[in-house]
Amino acid sequence: MTAYLITNVSVVGGEPTDLLIRDGVVAAVGDGLAADDATVVDATGLVALPGLVDLHTHLREPGREDAETVESGSRAAALGGYTAVCAMANTSPVADTAGVVEQVWRLGREAGLVDVQPIGAVTVGLAGERLAELGAMADSAAGVRIFSDDGHCVSDPRLMRRALEYVKAFDGVIAQHAEEPRLTEGAQMHEGEVSTRLGLTGWPAVAEEAIIARDVLLAEHVGSRLHVCHVSTAGSVEVLRQAKARGVRVTAEVTPHHLLLTDAKAESYDPVFKVNPPLRTAADIAALREALAEGVIDIIATDHAPHAVEDKECEWAYARPGMLGLETALSIALDVFGPRWDLIAERMSRTPARIAGLTGHGVDPAPGVPANLTLVDPAARRVIEPAELASRSRNTPYARMTLPGRIVATFLRGEPTVLDGKAVK
Ligand code: DOR
Ligand code: ZN
Repeated sequence: MTAYLITNVSVVGGEPTDLLIRDGVVAAVGDGLAADDATVVDATGLVALPGLVDLHTHLREPGREDAETVESGSRAAALGGYTAVCAMANTSPVADTAGVVEQVWRLGREAGLVDVQPIGAVTVGLAGERLAELGAMADSAAGVRIFSDDGHCVSDPRLMRRALEYVKAFDGVIAQHAEEPRLTEGAQMHEGEVSTRLGLTGWPAVAEEAIIARDVLLAEHVGSRLHVCHVSTAGSVEVLRQAKARGVRVTAEVTPHHLLLTDAKAESYDPVFKVNPPLRTAADIAALREALAEGVIDIIATDHAPHAVEDKECEWAYARPGMLGLETALSIALDVFGPRWDLIAERMSRTPARIAGLTGHGVDPAPGVPANLTLVDPAARRVIEPAELASRSRNTPYARMTLPGRIVATFLRGEPTVLDGKAVK
């Protein structure tokens, strides 16, 4: 194994110092380090962060390898500064058995670019009728701890209660896609002034808020852990704030796009902006940003949702919802929060690693810790060119935008997955 000496690097925004990486761990941190056998990486002007951890990634394998594979999504993740991603269960076949989650986990290991931690489905086939084999997935080699029907809401309260009860035995988490389906039938975008003007069926904020309110009560009743996916409204923030104040075991995520883009994007009728939950209003964005800074929302998760050209370059109503996120998430965080490195490390690495139970991830570089880290150039600016992305899909909402920050290098257990801004393999 090659040793790496990273010189003159700011660790999570601190004064510049050196980091020595050897045998998969951070061997030393300090000024003026030397190691004859090490490859030197001059990191002047760069910031080292614990490797980012994404709690919400769609990798599309098995089933839609034309849109993304475990390998291509892993490469996109590494280029985005990630060292671990949690792979959502809405594949084809659905990840609702030990066999499928083990397949995804094994493909992740073979790609070797990030740790891929499969999420298991809550219900068989995501159909919302019968609980999937949660215990078998937990006991499998993949060691599943997060279960989600994401893409669909577990809308039946009795099933949701049973799922919460079931995972309590092994301190698992149910990650809910909060969408009351009866309130969003035919919905195309956020219900509000823009949807009225465009004549598109609206997705009201209350469809999200009603499910979160119900689920925090269920989680409180059962005493289990609930995680709320892609929170998108100011009202949801208030429900979460109250639940947390009561001590409910609930965590929540927000996506980069819900922190930046509004429903006005739909005026273009460009389906790249169609996403579920939909882009909301400027007032929602302000509330989400404040909640993330305060910790009422715990983490940023990408909801990286690659889609093939034919599923996106069509009429708005027929397009699939979702947008790419892995390769741009850190830039959006920098754009929104500036160089608040401790906040970024907390919301994009430490806390998601803790929620997912990923040991060895989300730990700041210090002697003896696994060398899972990323080097960011905060001064760089880059123009997002869809054709240059490592993802197999092209549906980025940031095409041709100039964004701050660039990932220069990423290390997974001491081995570079990205160097000089390029994937190593
Ligand atoms: O926009 C979305 N896309 N929201 C989801 O919940 C699912 C995801 C997908 O799988 O494409
Ligand atoms: Zn979702």
